[in-house]
Amino acid sequence: MNDLKIVSKSDELIELENNFGAHNYHPLPVVLERGEGVYVWDVNGKKYFDFLAAYSAVNQGHCHPRIINALTNQAQKLTLTSRAFYNSLLGEYEKYITHYFGYDKVLPMNTGVEAGETAVKLARRWAYDVKGVSENNAKLVFANGNFWGRTLAAISSSNDPSSFKGFGPYMPGYELVDYNDLNALENAIKDPNTAAFMVEPIQGEAGVVVPDNGYLKGVRDLCTKYNVLFIADEVQTGLARTGKMLACDHENVKPDILVLGKALSGGTIPVSAVLASNEIMLTIKPGEHGSTYGGNPLACAVAMEALKVLKDESLAENSEKLGIIFRDEMNKLKQDSDIIITVRGKGLFNAIVIKEKNGKTAWDVCLEFAKEGLLAKPTHGDIIRFAPPLVINKEQLMECVAIIRKVILSF
Ligand SMILES: Cc1ncc(COP(=O)(O)O)c(C=O)c1O
Repeated sequence: MNDLKIVSKSDELIELENNFGAHNYHPLPVVLERGEGVYVWDVNGKKYFDFLAAYSAVNQGHCHPRIINALTNQAQKLTLTSRAFYNSLLGEYEKYITHYFGYDKVLPMNTGVEAGETAVKLARRWAYDVKGVSENNAKLVFANGNFWGRTLAAISSSNDPSSFKGFGPYMPGYELVDYNDLNALENAIKDPNTAAFMVEPIQGEAGVVVPDNGYLKGVRDLCTKYNVLFIADEVQTGLARTGKMLACDHENVKPDILVLGKALSGGTIPVSAVLASNEIMLTIKPGEHGSTYGGNPLACAVAMEALKVLKDESLAENSEKLGIIFRDEMNKLKQDSDIIITVRGKGLFNAIVIKEKNGKTAWDVCLEFAKEGLLAKPTHGDIIRFAPPLVINKEQLMECVAIIRKVILSF
């Protein structure tokens, strides 16, 4: 009896979303109401390991006490001024984040896609004002499989029909090359009209696609050779996710423009940022770009604390160390199972590719994971991404490995 009542509570909430919300997502049928560290609880009180961490926005763990403290303290003082006036935290935040990543300037925005748009605008403006490309001829190069959000500028660079189809006409001045292909990149950026190559150091939404060692170094060298800006979209890979503060750090390369979002607020409010040199950033003049909420004091307080937590809790080191153990365990499981085709990733940013068996797909596997108390989401039908909050410890990780093993071997 009790059970029946409990089941109907999440059904009711799912129905509400179905009835009154746009149908632009296909969530797993789990309704969450609380989170702490690596755990989330649904409305029935069932506890889960969160193995998605809101697409790597919750690297610091759910409701991190220090970040929540920074949020609530600042929320009681001043939340938004717009950029019509100065605010008492923006300068301090700008100094903090530029020193943290080693850039001259930051341009604060809110969502990841806005930061991507900002990077694209900066690259175009730099191409005209500094490189000397003639007006309206700047070219942006992207990699096949890229994902940087849902605005028209972002989907115009997508080669995934579910992103772009039916939303044309598209942004002109874009060219696509294969990911992880330096020859193709060189051919594309040789064109003197090229402003920038924008790329994810590891492609997240494509299914945690890790390029060959040396790819990022090659990108850096080619961009330097042809005077083209290297824009690294580290919205998903950045902030300790892959075992380094930035995924570009694995190859010791510094992009000309760094795009950050998601975990910059530790999963509290949308905070994104674009970092660049004076030469690039100062091409945009007052009144030419901005956002009402970008750089608001609440975001500044939260972002500084979120960045401090990453370092104070050595989350990159934890991600690196536990990532090796996790992939080891997944590779062992691959030997024992006939439905895992591939295991790949870096740090605690990993994926397995699932072979359909008896009509059962990655979606069915994720439903079973959820029943066993672990939340993960399939992408592209056959890939399951594993990206837990980086505050996870070894014992918790091994509990998750046991769940994954049990479920996979049951198929
Ligand atoms: C690499 C990358 N860039 C940009 C974005 C867009 O971020 P947002 O959803 O905050 O606009 C995403 C979102 O998943 C992403 O993975």
